[in-house]
Amino acid sequence: MKKFLLGCCYYPSHWEDADMPGDLARIKDLGFNCVRMGEFDWSMFEKEEGKYDFSLLSAAVDRAAELGIDVILGTPTAAPPKWLVDKYPEVLCVNAAGTQMQHGSRQHHNHTSEVYLRYCAAITEAMAKHFCGCRNVIGWQIDNELNCHRTDSYAEADDVAFRKWLREKYGTVETLNRAWGNRFWSLEFNDFSQVTCPRPKPTHSNPAWFTDYYLFMSDTVVNYAAVQADIIRRYMPDAFITHNGIFGNIDYRALTDRCLDFLSYDSYPSFDEKNGKALGRRVAYKFAAMRDFSKDFLVLEQQSGPGGQLSYLLPTPRPGQIRLWTYQSIANGADGVLYFRYRTALYGAEQLWYGIYDHDGEENYRSREIRKISAELARVGDIFLREGLKCEVAIWNDYHNTCVNQVESFAKTDIREIFAELNRRNIPTDLISDAERLSDYRVVILPHVAVADEALAEAVRCFTEGGGIAIFSARSGIRDKYVQYRPAKAPGVFRELAGCRVDWFTAVTEYEDQRIRFAGKEYPVDTYYEMLTPEDGACIGTYTDGFCKDRAAMVKCGNVYYIGAYLHKAPQLYGELVAQYVTRREPIDPDVEELHLGAYVMYLNHSDRAVTLAGYDILEEKDFTEIPPYGVVLLDGEKQ
Ligand code: GAL
Repeated sequence: MKKFLLGCCYYPSHWEDADMPGDLARIKDLGFNCVRMGEFDWSMFEKEEGKYDFSLLSAAVDRAAELGIDVILGTPTAAPPKWLVDKYPEVLCVNAAGTQMQHGSRQHHNHTSEVYLRYCAAITEAMAKHFCGCRNVIGWQIDNELNCHRTDSYAEADDVAFRKWLREKYGTVETLNRAWGNRFWSLEFNDFSQVTCPRPKPTHSNPAWFTDYYLFMSDTVVNYAAVQADIIRRYMPDAFITHNGIFGNIDYRALTDRCLDFLSYDSYPSFDEKNGKALGRRVAYKFAAMRDFSKDFLVLEQQSGPGGQLSYLLPTPRPGQIRLWTYQSIANGADGVLYFRYRTALYGAEQLWYGIYDHDGEENYRSREIRKISAELARVGDIFLREGLKCEVAIWNDYHNTCVNQVESFAKTDIREIFAELNRRNIPTDLISDAERLSDYRVVILPHVAVADEALAEAVRCFTEGGGIAIFSARSGIRDKYVQYRPAKAPGVFRELAGCRVDWFTAVTEYEDQRIRFAGKEYPVDTYYEMLTPEDGACIGTYTDGFCKDRAAMVKCGNVYYIGAYLHKAPQLYGELVAQYVTRREPIDPDVEELHLGAYVMYLNHSDRAVTLAGYDILEEKDFTEIPPYGVVLLDGEKQ
């Protein structure tokens, strides 16, 4: 990014045409240099098949150019028009129960229908052709929040595409039968034509079938986005292509690598905010995921008002919170922020999703807060383009294991709890899914990486031999890429590295109070735990209760730790282990997020209390002695 982008999503089509020039002037007056427009307007762009009319959007792009505002255009394919779905009902998506979704909302299409892909290609090409001469169109957003409202689909087109995908993956139906283990419960197929997407069954199903289906769902999204990306790139090679995530059943690294210049994120911290309590910092987890998927990213939708739809209403941002969340996005890696949305719609499904301006369009505390942010970023925005967060710790989180975890819901991973624990301790943490990046870190936690191969084990071995610390935990290394269990003792491919074997495991019942005793403290386990037998490693933690009392729960072998349990309730154990290896400062307050960006340090107070700290704040250009409720300060470490 050449400059820090600040702006908003603007929908000229939701207002009188005559309002557009004045609206854009007000957008400029807010201090913005960028707008996103166009997504969802397909019924206006192509009222009748093949007859394109971009006049209003075109006029808005020109008006933006006059005002020096850059434009990101969205392709409108998340909202197919009625004529299209009436003519080709096969483009509609179908839920697992077999109900076909109908026109009247958005995302009612599937991602596989050849017909839909053709129409998406046509509208994308018409737009790209129309706007390719506009110098202020700097980028494109493909579709909108793929998989936001639904993450799977069971239309006829999906079955056809699934069969093709399986044929490409397995070659013969015999190989598929073997990989899935279809002799079990008589699931064998005689021909690919018999295979379907996994529909509801009377009881438990084959996990391999579901895992492949989730991998396939992601590939359908990548393929769908690629159709549009390739067209845009042909017409506008200099514009960037992005997409706003992040949702289920998408391997975003694959999506970014194949289709995008970078991925973007939509940040709505109110979803984590309960009764004004400071949980907004949980969004940090999503930013860590973003840093894995995409080296650079924008926040294309930053919440700027109370949020609601017909079925819910979220708390209104307290004075200061929009600024807090904006800087949270920026300090966590965003190179630009666009607020959702300029003004609250008077009609439609989102009358309750407030933008910067309310329905009345008048100045309010939120627009004033945003003016303050614009003024600050005009001065310091470049710092954030130069400096990024440097993490010494990473948590492994690959898409394949995410799919498997979705199938085996009994064992929900504790990754989020581990991340939150490190975040609370002021230990900045990345999420990673690329073995080549292991050596960027001092410590890598690999929680419950059940699907793993020798190549990953080898990468971890090199990493730990080079001085890195690896922490494995229960149910690791036991399954191959077809999710079949290995005919070997756990932790399978990691056994040698971990220096131990698993001799026994059990599920945790609500009547059990099993704990791990480590370094004089006790940590309650949950979900599932394993009794370990050290081989080359040494026992460093034991169970406190029952049959496993005093038996090994944790083993250390060189630079590798193995913890034989899930620790949703006690992620502090990870905190204790990691803290030994990283440089960190004690948090100044439990609700204050502290992020180091080169020599700069930002403090984000997520609480409704003032927090004592003194220094010189370069955002407000003044000395301070406390961070106000929901306040933010940025210090230049070299000048304090
Ligand atoms: C996002 C979506 C927007 C709007 C917003 C508020 O998820 O991309 O189009 O719906 O939420 O609900």
